[in-house]
Amino acid sequence: MKDSIKLSANQLPIQGTLRVPGDKSISHRSIMFGAMAQGRTTVSGFLLGDDCLSTISCFQKLGVDIQVNDTNVIINSDGMDKWIEPIEILDTGNSGTTTRLMLGILAGSDVHAVLVGDESIAKRPMKRVIEPLRQMGAQISGRSGGQFTPLAIQGTALTAIDYTMPVASAQVKSAILLAGLRAQGVTTVREMEVTRDHTERMLSKFGAVISSENRVIKLQGGQQLTGTHVEVPGDISSAAFFLVAGAIAKESRIRLEHVGLNPTRTGILDVLNLMGAKMEVEMNDSIDDEPIGSVTINSSVLKGIEIGGDLIPRLIDEIPIIALLATQAHGTTVIKDAEELKVKETDRISAVVDELKKLGADIEGTNDGMIIRGPVTLSGGQLQSYGDHRIGMMAAIASVIATQPIEIEQASCISVSYPNFFEHLHIMSSSGTLR
Ligand code: S3P
Repeated sequence: MKDSIKLSANQLPIQGTLRVPGDKSISHRSIMFGAMAQGRTTVSGFLLGDDCLSTISCFQKLGVDIQVNDTNVIINSDGMDKWIEPIEILDTGNSGTTTRLMLGILAGSDVHAVLVGDESIAKRPMKRVIEPLRQMGAQISGRSGGQFTPLAIQGTALTAIDYTMPVASAQVKSAILLAGLRAQGVTTVREMEVTRDHTERMLSKFGAVISSENRVIKLQGGQQLTGTHVEVPGDISSAAFFLVAGAIAKESRIRLEHVGLNPTRTGILDVLNLMGAKMEVEMNDSIDDEPIGSVTINSSVLKGIEIGGDLIPRLIDEIPIIALLATQAHGTTVIKDAEELKVKETDRISAVVDELKKLGADIEGTNDGMIIRGPVTLSGGQLQSYGDHRIGMMAAIASVIATQPIEIEQASCISVSYPNFFEHLHIMSSSGTLR
């Protein structure tokens, strides 16, 4: 089957009102915590992306009753002690979050399990999670001494640790905290830079006592989670593609509603503001555990800026689309302190640089980011997604300003986080409204 899509260079305005699908990070955690909890958990606004479906399938293999009805999910669980030992491998697909958080969860369980993902997962570093988990007593073995999948985990009794994170990673932090729930003693995680805090917020919602102050998170072991309701807001990482489309396409105005505006995730809004975008942000009144609001953006005259330091973890997934944005800004944009891009679904420094260069962008890669000079008129051509959803969507959004058609290879990978992306892009390019 041909897995490519050709987008014409229609250079139309991006207009309308849109609700993007549910947040990927929050959707994963709703299933994981619901499966660990005792009782019934209901989820609304769940992301039906391939990554989150991988998480569901892993827990179903552990015997947890999970029913999916459109974007509503019901999880009935008697808690981790009642999980069955899976006879099949747990396939985490393309999902780093599933793989790393499952390691933390399974480490303190009563079961043996084997985790395997796709070719991209097989290349992604797991040592960063396995090392602290082993310090807690976890029994994990895997390829290259446990650095890569396939990984085998034998659940066992764990002891709490006090861990200073060498990398800014919410996945590592979450894996340790989830193992900490079953460990003896108080688990402490110290972050150098603030990373997304969905785990901390959602653990409280499931009844756990957890404290977080000055980048130090503490959790007493032996706590049992209780089922609850989780409302998943729209994913700001998905909204980012349409925010950028609205800012760079001519005569555009787009409103994104019901978007998650957790401050650990809103670095993209800071960047748009600093670049001079015409944008309004409204917070919804009733804030549950996750802030939600609307963002409206208009076509804007943009200027280049420097992006680095503690802003990076707050926009790490948005860097491919920020690079496209920077090609339209006046002056130089420097993205630094972002070495982590090299170990995402693909090496996102080289992928972004190579693909935007094909369109004529003035962009060069550096060891920890990229330098982009603009504004440049982008042409068209055949672009590669490298099987990375965010590279594929960056290429698709380039088509709203490109002078020639853009063909994207391996475009189906976009369903990892945004299954109806092309439908939304089509409607927003024809002045539509989709709620
Ligand atoms: C995620 C954390 C981030 C992010 C990923 C989702 C999460 O990864 O890039 O898309 O849900 O915790 P790192 O923890 O590797 O930074």
